[in-house]
Amino acid sequence: MEDTPDAATPPHHHPEDPLAQLIGTGQRVPCLDGTHRVAVELDQAASTQAHPDAAARIQEFLPWYSSVHRGAGYRSRHATASYEEARRAVLSFAGRDPDGSDVAILCRNTTEAINHLAYRLPLDPTDVVVTTVVEHHANLLPWGRVARRRYVECSPEGTFTVDDVCAALDADGPRPALLAVTGASNVTGWLPPIDAIIEAAHERGVRVAVDAAQLAPHRPLPLAADFLAFSGHKLYAPFGSGALIGPRAVFETGEPFLAGGGAVDLVGLDEVIWTAPPDREEAGSPNVIGAVGLHAAIEALGRIGWEAIADHERALGARLIAGLVAIEGVRLLGPTVSQRSTSDEGAIETLPVAAFTLAGMHHAMVAARLSAEYGIAVRHGCFCAHPYVVRLLGLSELEVDSYRSEVLGGDHRNVPGAVRASAGLGTSGAEIDALISAVAELAGGAPEPVPYQQDAATGDYFPVTDLPGWKDASHELGAACSRG
Ligand SMILES: Cc1ncc(COP(=O)(O)O)c(C=O)c1O
Repeated sequence: MEDTPDAATPPHHHPEDPLAQLIGTGQRVPCLDGTHRVAVELDQAASTQAHPDAAARIQEFLPWYSSVHRGAGYRSRHATASYEEARRAVLSFAGRDPDGSDVAILCRNTTEAINHLAYRLPLDPTDVVVTTVVEHHANLLPWGRVARRRYVECSPEGTFTVDDVCAALDADGPRPALLAVTGASNVTGWLPPIDAIIEAAHERGVRVAVDAAQLAPHRPLPLAADFLAFSGHKLYAPFGSGALIGPRAVFETGEPFLAGGGAVDLVGLDEVIWTAPPDREEAGSPNVIGAVGLHAAIEALGRIGWEAIADHERALGARLIAGLVAIEGVRLLGPTVSQRSTSDEGAIETLPVAAFTLAGMHHAMVAARLSAEYGIAVRHGCFCAHPYVVRLLGLSELEVDSYRSEVLGGDHRNVPGAVRASAGLGTSGAEIDALISAVAELAGGAPEPVPYQQDAATGDYFPVTDLPGWKDASHELGAACSRG
């Protein structure tokens, strides 16, 4: 994506004003006082609403919807061209030459992309993959299936240095086959020094896979990464698309991840001749709608430009962190305020994400009350990053063991965790303020308007009320954040 001046950003844009009116802006949600409030969506790190361009492009495309790579009709040719244009846009977005040596495999999401890669790399169970304790489960679990993992530990503030990565790469034992590392943490928003990390790994002859799920909507993707994985639904294109990018040569030999139609040149009853990548890696009918939406979202980001995005998100992040830490009882997880200070050269940089706990209130209760009483959406729990959250909370092995046995018994009530607020393109400073004032009210002892009950199976709290949207019957639609 070119970092060009933004045609879409007005000249006197205030950094805390939204950079886009995402689909659903202004939508109202039911609250316990019987009103419907405009939803404040501070769960952008989970999934973003659609960028209007993505929705419009899909609307335009729908009359042309047809099979991809499987039809002679005009519509099918159009759909195929749109799909392949999206693939080229994905490569350009990652700073790769669409006609170069890298290939983009379009898939469902980051999880699928990393599992795909883990399956496709020629790893032996004795091989070592270096990864970090900061990772999302999507960048931990797939590697454990195919290789041994060696971990980069983090500090109590949830960060590590390039030297820490080098120490893990150089540790006794076999030379690592891969470094699998996140481009940005989904818990603390921390941006590891990814370019320097990649350089250090390359100096040691180790290839690097970057989990770019959180990085991709916020910052340019690292040019030197050997492999990249990201999701459209975190990138303003919530239509089930994602991408794995890597050297074409890696996918030219061996068995593809999925076997089936579209991936072959010839099939006999006892023989298969796989076709060339990327088709070799995309058996089955692809998600052309997702690809079209992703393409449009990528273009929209390109028009806004990384500079405007980073300015907007730095302003929101600073406001979020400053507001939260000023509240008595709030404990911010991850880098401290002074470590995050953007004015210092070498400061730890973070996305507009804050994970925090509130003294005396269960994280699930904070999230439930923000939603039911204020119309504010956040996430709670361990954010699919259990090892990281355990470290950030400073839990002892004894504490982990005690809730572990409860979980094994089906009881999630005491699973530790935090609350996470996360912002993006469509977030305003006013929305951050709404969160801060709601958390301050909760911290100040605002009474519960109705009792809340905790569900043992999920650990979620639900208000006890017959109000529409909050009745017992809707509990199964609850957060269930504990499953992450
Ligand atoms: C850092 C990180 N990696 C991977 C994932 C998995 O993404 P997906 O659920 O789109 O597969 C997420 C999702 O939250 C994430 O934040």
